[in-house]
Amino acid sequence: MLDEWTSNSLTHDPMRLYRLKRDRRHIPVSAKYNIMGFISSGTYGRVYKAECVEDGQIHAIKKFKPDKEGDVVTYTGISQSAIREIALNREINHENIVALKEVILEDKSIYMVFEYAEHDFLQIIHHNSTHRVPIQIPVLKSLVYQLLNGLIYLHSVHILHRDLKPANILVTSNGIVKIGDLGLARLIYEPLQPLHAGDKVVVTIWYRAPELLLGAKHYTKAIDCWAVGCVIAELASLRPIFKGEEAKLDSKKNVPFQKDQLLKIFEVLGTPNERDWPGVKDMPEFQSMKRLDYFTNRLHEWFRTRANHAISVYELLLRLFYYDPDKRLTAREALNHPWFQEDPKPTRNAFESLLSHSHSHSLQSQVPNPSHHLPPLRRITQDDAPSMVPMQGNINIGNGNNNAGGAGHGHGIPINAGGMGAGVIGAGGGGGGPPFGSHSQTHSKPGSSASFASLSGGGNAGGTRKKARLG
Ligand SMILES: Nc1ncnc2c1ncn2[C@@H]1O[C@H](COP(=O)(O)OP(=O)(O)OP(=O)(O)O)[C@@H](O)[C@H]1O
Ligand SMILES: [Mg+2]
Repeated sequence: MLDEWTSNSLTHDPMRLYRLKRDRRHIPVSAKYNIMGFISSGTYGRVYKAECVEDGQIHAIKKFKPDKEGDVVTYTGISQSAIREIALNREINHENIVALKEVILEDKSIYMVFEYAEHDFLQIIHHNSTHRVPIQIPVLKSLVYQLLNGLIYLHSVHILHRDLKPANILVTSNGIVKIGDLGLARLIYEPLQPLHAGDKVVVTIWYRAPELLLGAKHYTKAIDCWAVGCVIAELASLRPIFKGEEAKLDSKKNVPFQKDQLLKIFEVLGTPNERDWPGVKDMPEFQSMKRLDYFTNRLHEWFRTRANHAISVYELLLRLFYYDPDKRLTAREALNHPWFQEDPKPTRNAFESLLSHSHSHSLQSQVPNPSHHLPPLRRITQDDAPSMVPMQGNINIGNGNNNAGGAGHGHGIPINAGGMGAGVIGAGGGGGGPPFGSHSQTHSKPGSSASFASLSGGGNAGGTRKKARLG
């Protein structure tokens, strides 16, 4: 019960009353979710695997980093990336886009709760490259088909993803592709500024379209289609096709000419010319480009030496790599490419062909071929996981049973019982995905060599894959 003074003052301060009611209703994130372990640390925050207490469903919770000065957490508002990711995710709903379940504001931190995806393209590439076996065409085709399907949806609702790369393209255990990480995504009808203006972070350079590298002031959906081309080439060859070194801003923050990245592209696709791309002469960096060595297109040769098993996708890739953004295939045109009509046809579950292979192998007890195996489950760790919620209250929610990393029992996550200033933003369009909580899992040992973060280019290692931070 509120005392008289408090209720009097609240009547005169409706905002305070609202906050009080809101905070009373708020269920702390730690009471709603059991944290099973830490997945990855990215540019904007940390991602955890969590189980919903109410229904046992598994989720990924992305906690945005609060602004910090030294050890002091300051609250300067919500970051641009968080706002974009939340705002866009709440409005969209598609099978091939990762669904946002809810957003929780608590103790100056933002928690985005997503449907869980067991794999991502980078992990699949890593699995196959470790075993030195190519990704089989039926799997490759289904992954690409679903990626394009998700991208058609994003583009149809005027969203540019702007950061398509293997680590941001997730896959569920049912083989359903989920485009993730809309932290850099934008609505296209806004006047688009040049890439370096305003944004602290830009698209990872290996997947950056030539028009951006040549300083284009305006850009279009075609930049995502270029990135899809890079992703297809990487799935086919198991390594990034254009692995350039990013030139950094100088001390005066002048935008540098990305010579190395452009050379990596030209070495495979040839130097752009005005016949194929009339607009190239208007590119701000055209003069610098003309000073580079001249190359001819050798994509076909690249395929024969690096990805001969996937040569059937050559023609599609060639068109996704058209220099002229107006001629480059759109996501829809790419999906209509004859490659998808040819056998093997894309399957709804990208792993379908592997399931039947695994079955026949077990029946015939042959030595299994690793390329015929499902990729391993996503690794989560306990030991190098920074706790998700601050160490105030110290209520221990971990009961040992959720110990996905195999670490000692009773290895609970210390949590904060507080919850002041808390609120939940319902996540509009999300949901609708299949339940992921039912399958049993095996996980890496604690302290075992690399956590998954190091494979995904997030957090602990793999710095070269990370987005460049500007300013
Ligand atoms: N829904 C999910 N289910 C499972 N794992 C996820 C999920 N979302 C993200 N991850 C994992 O966490 C990583 C980082 O997530 P995300 O890309 O959204 O964050 P980020 O801060 O933008 O990171 P980065 O800067 O590395 O792109 C992903 O590469 C993926 O490995
Ligand atoms: Mg990411």
